[in-house]
Formats: sequence, C-alpha cells, structure tokens
Amino acid sequence: MAAAGSAVGLGNIWGFPTQAASNGGAAFVVVYLILAFLLAYPVLMAEFTLGRHAHGNMIAALAKVSRNGTQRGLGTLVGIVGIFTASLILSFYAIVSGWMIGFGAAYPLEAAGASATATWLSEFGLLRNLTLMLIFMILTMAVVVGGVEKGIERWSKRLMPALIVTLMALSIYVLTLEGAGKGLAVYLVPDITKIWSTELIFKAMGAAFFSLSLGVGTMLIYGSYVSDDEHLPSLGAQVALVDVGIAVLAGFLILPAMYVAAERGVVIFNEAGGLLSEDTLIFVVLPALFDSMNQAGTALAVAFFGLMSIAALTSSISMLEVPVAFLVERFQWSRFKAAVIATLIVTAMSSVIVLNFDLLFGLVITVSTRYSQPILGLALCLYAGWVWRRDILLKELAKNELETEPTLFMRWWPWYVRFVCPTIILAIVARTIF
Ligand code: PHE
Repeated sequence: MAAAGSAVGLGNIWGFPTQAASNGGAAFVVVYLILAFLLAYPVLMAEFTLGRHAHGNMIAALAKVSRNGTQRGLGTLVGIVGIFTASLILSFYAIVSGWMIGFGAAYPLEAAGASATATWLSEFGLLRNLTLMLIFMILTMAVVVGGVEKGIERWSKRLMPALIVTLMALSIYVLTLEGAGKGLAVYLVPDITKIWSTELIFKAMGAAFFSLSLGVGTMLIYGSYVSDDEHLPSLGAQVALVDVGIAVLAGFLILPAMYVAAERGVVIFNEAGGLLSEDTLIFVVLPALFDSMNQAGTALAVAFFGLMSIAALTSSISMLEVPVAFLVERFQWSRFKAAVIATLIVTAMSSVIVLNFDLLFGLVITVSTRYSQPILGLALCLYAGWVWRRDILLKELAKNELETEPTLFMRWWPWYVRFVCPTIILAIVARTIF
C-alpha cells in the first residue's frame, strides 16, 4: 500500500492527464501504457529485488551486488545522483502540492466569508507559494519522522482507498456534464500519426518513470522493507496496475473537465490553438469549472484538492525517505535528526525554485523527471542485469517462490532487464538528443 501510495501522486492526476492533453491525447496514452508495462514495470522489479536483497538504500544495494572497486565506486555515484534527484523532485513537488492545499483551503474559507484570505491562497504569488510549500514540507517531515510502520504505512493505508473512491465519484459526476464527450474523444481516440513523435515518446517515458517513482531509489528502499516471504513480482504488478489504473482514471476526470470548462466559456487554449501550459493547466481550468457550478462546485473543489493533497503526501513521504534512509543507515543518525536535516535542505532548494520560478520550475521538472529518472533507471538495469552475479540474483528471486521449478518471471526477467530495458531507454534518449 505504501509503494502504491508513492506511485500514485501528482504524476497520475496532474502530470499524466495534462501531458496527454497537450501531447496528442490518446496517442500519448497509448505510448504511455506500452512504456509503463514493457519498460517501467521491469525497472520497478529491478528496484524491488535490489532493495530486498540488500535490505538497505541504493548506495548500499549497488555496493552489495558489485564485484570490484570500480563497480562499487560507480554504484556510489549512481546512488548519490539518485538521492539528489529524489530531493530535486521533492523540491518542485512540494510547490505544486502546496498549491493543492491552498486551493483546498480557499473554497471553505470563501464560503465562510474570508474572501481576502481565499484569494491570497489561490492566486499565484511569492509569499503564498513559499508559505504553502513550507506547510507541505512540514507535513511530509511529520509523517517521515513517525517511521515506516507508524508513519508511512499507516497513513498510506488510510489515505489510498479514500483517494480512489473520491476520484471515481468525481469522474462519474463530470462525465454527466455538457461538453464532457469532446474531452472523452480527445482522450480515447488516438491520432496515429503522432504515435511515432520523438518528443511524445520521450515525454511518455519520463511520465512512466515519474509515475512509478523509479530511478531515484524510492522503490528500492521500500523493497528493502519488504519481508522475504512476500512474492515480489506480484507485489510489483499490483503497484504498477494500481498506478496506471489511477492515471487512466484521472484522465477520465481531467480531460472531460477541461472541455466542460471550455463549454462554459473558460479559455483552455492559447492563441496558437494549443492547450494552455500543462504545468498550470488544472489550476486555471478546474477552479474556473468549479466556480461555474455554485454550491456543488465548492464541495467538488474541496474533494478534488483534498484528494490531490493526499495523493501528493503519500508520494512526498517516499521521496523524503530516500535521503532520510541514507542518513540513518550510513551515519546512524536518529530518524528525527535525519528527517529534519533533509527537510531543511529540500526546503532551501525549493525556495530557490520559488524565487526563480519562471527560470527554474519547468527546467527542474525536465531535468529530474525526463532525463535523470530514466538514465538512473538504465543504471539500475545495468546493475541488476550485468553486475549482479546471475546465481545470486536467481536465488534472490527464488526466495519467495513456492515451486522449485523456475517460474516464467525468473526465466524471462533477468534477460529482459539485461538487454531489452537498457536498449529501449538508450534508444529513446539517443533519438531525442540527436
Ligand atoms: N510517483 C509519484 C507521482 O506520480 C512521484 C514520485 C517520483 C514519487 C519519484 C517518488 C519518487 O506523483
């Protein structure tokens, strides 16, 4: 449940649908689905198995499977880049999550007559962005300080089902509104000519890695907390299915909602005919839509932004867990000390982004999710597929198998992460660069 909580987040409900909307609709969805199952799931399994084998963070895990000093050194480098990327992701994630909290609070405040505060909370502004980001970071820290069982697991178990139910209710409601059909068509009818677009494939790969929380060691650390009796391949499959399922479900809400909003006079396209910026799309479109619905709108808005904040929190705790687990394991710091220091560092990074928003916000997202995550994923495949001794890897995979015969997964997956995953990632990155 915690791993599913990590996977399901803004990436599913904010990132995936808005990127799909701006990048060919259903064409993006098709490529995303293919990459999620054929590339991201096997990489997720690499993280889970490496983590459970080492029962430690990414640096420890890569060192454990290394056979010589060079491999260990490179592994440390990969691990450090992973920790840095996780922190970088959290630093922009906290800003967007803060907006979610801001909008969630603005609606009831507005209804209670505190319009000035409500406006302040929902309008883009330096102080508002900083304050909300700080609140979100403190929430994240509080859960992580609580530890794995009492903090992360307990909250993920409570919040995840609430999220799924709210999302379903919201999409069903929006689908009954005028204009929803147009959005549905954009979402479901692929423009085949766009499927081979380099940009589309590159973005879809980033979206798949981001959505499954890959490359940065989050899933590896969660894997390290999984007991030896759990069946990892099915656990991974469940996480991937829930994650992709919620992204697809969110598409049924966001895309129709955009066209419902357009029907009601909200501007969703720019002058060039493209969609408004994908970064802020739902913060313009959805509030406008909610506003046009009077009372029901307020209830829906609170449900929606509450849901987004929850989804964001179960993901942000898994990001903060990356530096925290490292500091605790490597320097034997207390969880409290590690969480406070990691939070301070990430908050400082996040403040720099807020202060230079136009310059840094989009750039940080592109660098961390579209380049860094897939390339780190590539490194993890290389360690799982080439560096890790085959007999030890197979033993790790056999740990939770009841049958003595190697399963289909055991026969295919080691070969698959060794050859196929690295080839796909390299091909997509190379195609994009050249
Ligand atoms: N998977 C999360 C989401 O979809 C984001 C995330 C990325 C979480 C990396 C942890 C690590 O929102």
